[in-house]
Order: sequence, then structure tokens, then C-alpha cells
Amino acid sequence: MTLYKGRIDAAPNELMDALNKSLPVDIRFFPYDVNTNRVWATELERIGIFTEAERKSIHQTLDSILARYHSGEFHALPDDEDIHTLTERLLTEQLGDTGARIHTGRSRNDQVACDLYQYLMDQLNMLKSHLHNLISIICDVAKTHTSTLLAGTTHLQPAQPITLGHFLMSLGFALQRDFQRADDAIRRVDRCPLGAGAIAGCGFVVNRTKIATELGFSRPTDNSIDTISDRDVAQEVAFVCASTLTHLSRYAEQFVIWSNPAFGYVKWDAQWSTGSSMMPQKRNPDAMELVRAKAARAAGNVTTLLSMTKGVPLSYAKDLQEDKEAVFDSIDTALLTIQVFGQALKSAVFNPDQMKKVLTSDMLATDLADALVEKGIPFRKAHERTAQFVTFLEDANRDLLNATVDEMNSHFPEFKDNPLQLGYEASLERRSVIGGTAPSSVASQIKILKDWLSQNTE
Ligand code: ARG
Repeated sequence: MTLYKGRIDAAPNELMDALNKSLPVDIRFFPYDVNTNRVWATELERIGIFTEAERKSIHQTLDSILARYHSGEFHALPDDEDIHTLTERLLTEQLGDTGARIHTGRSRNDQVACDLYQYLMDQLNMLKSHLHNLISIICDVAKTHTSTLLAGTTHLQPAQPITLGHFLMSLGFALQRDFQRADDAIRRVDRCPLGAGAIAGCGFVVNRTKIATELGFSRPTDNSIDTISDRDVAQEVAFVCASTLTHLSRYAEQFVIWSNPAFGYVKWDAQWSTGSSMMPQKRNPDAMELVRAKAARAAGNVTTLLSMTKGVPLSYAKDLQEDKEAVFDSIDTALLTIQVFGQALKSAVFNPDQMKKVLTSDMLATDLADALVEKGIPFRKAHERTAQFVTFLEDANRDLLNATVDEMNSHFPEFKDNPLQLGYEASLERRSVIGGTAPSSVASQIKILKDWLSQNTE
């Protein structure tokens, strides 16, 4: 399209064209750009630029090019620089001067922001709904494992007995925060950029409040310079994706470890596993490995988006065109990964017997120290005496659950009259505090999240 005719009198160098062209990326804005044009045409009619008949012809043409786009019979020309020039070319080819009037009072600067905000709004809602599904799957799996014992680790070393349900719910609550982040980001995306113009605001008396409502936004943006210069909403969405994927990557890593036969806690359904081209015995947890890796590109995209705007002079600069690849990639990756993680988790088979076998009685040492505290011993001293006892048993090739009565009595006369009963289930039960690992507490956590899920359906 001869967008710059009269000023730029040569076709761009091929390499410049390749660098400058954003259509292959921003083509996905097409339905939003059609919307933007539709509402703009309505407003141009209101201020007398279009007659009613002209506005109608614009709307009809937009309908028909959108239908062509959806049916795939829609071809860009080499001259189409971006999605906005493409739409304008299609309108002008069809309608002549009427099409040539559509860009009145508008700039691609406010147009691209307008498309972007509409797109982000839809994607944030999609992200919320995918997160909602995943949290619901997590609650269901956790519910079948509220009492399934698991060796809880810190530093990846045996720490304390927990339940698998407790462990899974930790992810549920982390994802709840990501959902809330997405929800909160919607409030900042819910402002209509159209009418900001190139920098100074539209030079025609358009009704920006009405435009905002017609495009489904709650209100117009407040400052035209800010509107066309900033990409913080894209950065924020990319961060929500990165946070979500970073959360998933940690659990994916844990699940990869757990599916090694040395742990043997979980087996992935064949649908979510792959074999080896050479080693016939292999069953690899590729789904979880890829989930783990996707967090890296999501973090990279946040960095791209921040660095891309860092130090860019106000207001618009072409640097800002680079936002799309990064934010699209973050969203696409997050939406796919969240679904894979959920489906793989839903069909995973956990092995509670194996998980129980891995528990070691030294994980009850804190319970022993706590019991001493209940006998009036200061915790630091209880800690030391328990540590000495664990070392003593270790040297004797024994452990806390098979210490003899004599051994117990000689180290801990406090329990002589009332022998201490250490046990994994008892250890869980002790932790019935809010947020704790006791099955009753885990059940409450599931209820909290399930209630929240039912209050947060679209
Ligand atoms: N394709 C451009 C982008 O994505 C649209 C805005 C172009 N504005 C301009 N002043 N050249 O940012």
C-alpha cells in the first residue's frame, strides 16, 4: 500500500522491508483490527466524515473481509507492512475514497494499542479459564491423596512426613495467585486506547467514552502520550505467564525425579510419555521435561519486553513493534503448557506404597524434639539431645522406629512412665494447624480452593 506516497518516493530496500514488516506476526490481530475499524467508522459517521451509507459500506466490507480471513481465502500483498495497512488497503480497494477516509483522526499508534488491548483482554480471560481448570484438577487429585504419605524434603533431603495432597495443594494455591494476577491485569488492560491519535490526541471531537463502550472497554485511557508509548500491560501479561510457568516448572522437575524408578512415586500415562529410539526399555517423562523448559522462554520474553522499552524516548518508536512476538509466545506457551500439565496430572498414577517405603524414621526427629518440649525441655536442648540420639542410633545401625525401650529410657527418662509413640500418621496428625499437612487440614485447604473456584467461574 502506498502509505507514504508524497514523502517516501522509493520502495523500501528488501532488507529494510524484511526488518520492518510485522504482518506475519500481527496478522493474528485481524479480528480485533476489524473491530477497531468498525467502531471508528461509526464514530466518523457521528462526526460527519461518513454518511450513513458510507459507514454501512465500511461495515459490510469489514464483515466480508473477516469472513474471507476466517475461511482462509485472504492474501496479503508484498506491500502490506502490517495488519493496519492491510485492513486499510482492503477497504480502499473495495470502496475507493470511502476507504481512503477511514484513517481520519487516527494513527497506527493508537490503532495498534487498541488491537493489542482487545487481544490481551481475551487472552487474560482464556488464561484465567485454563488456570481455573488446572486448579480444579489439582484439587481433585489432592482429594484422593489427603492421607497419602510422602517424604517431604527440604534441600531435597528427607525432612518431615507430609501428604501428597498437601504437596499438590501447594501448587493449587500458587496458581490461585497467578489467576488473581491475571484478573488484576485485566483492570489495567480494560481501557480503550483509540482516540489517542499519533501522540497528541485525536484532532476531531470524537467521543472516546462511547468508543470505549462500543469496543467492550470500561473507559478510555487517560493520557494520549502514555497510551501510545507504553507496553507495560504486555509486560505484565508476560510476567503472569512467566510466573505460572515458573511455578509449573518446579513441580514438573519434582515429577521428573519422582518418575525415576529409584523413587518410583509416579507413572505417567503413555499419552504423555515418550520412548527412546535406541533403548527399548525407556519411558521418558518428556511432557514434564518440556513444561520445565517452557519457563525459560517465558522468563526470556519478560526480559525482552522490559529491555525493549527501557530508555526508549517518548512517545512512540518502532521499537514498540517488537512487543508482539514476545507476548504472543508467552501466551501461546502458557496456554498450551497449562493444559498439558493438567491432563498429564489427571492421568498420572501415583504409587502410595512406594512413597511410604521411602519414608525414613529420622523424619520423625522433630516430633521427638517437640515431645521433649512438651515435657518442659527448652527446644534448643531438645534439638541437641534428639540429634545425639539419632547419631547414636545411626552408628548402631538402627533408627527411631526400632529403638529399644531401654535405649529410649536411658536417653529420655522423661518418657519412662508414658512411652512415646512415634509414627508417620501421628506426625501428620500433629500438624492440623491451618495450612498444615494433617489430612483434616489438607481437606480444609481443598475446600477453601474449591469454594474459591466456584465463586470465580466466568
Ligand atoms: N506495526 C506497528 C506496531 O506494531 C504499528 C504502529 C506503527 N506506527 C508508526 N508510527 N510507524 O507498532
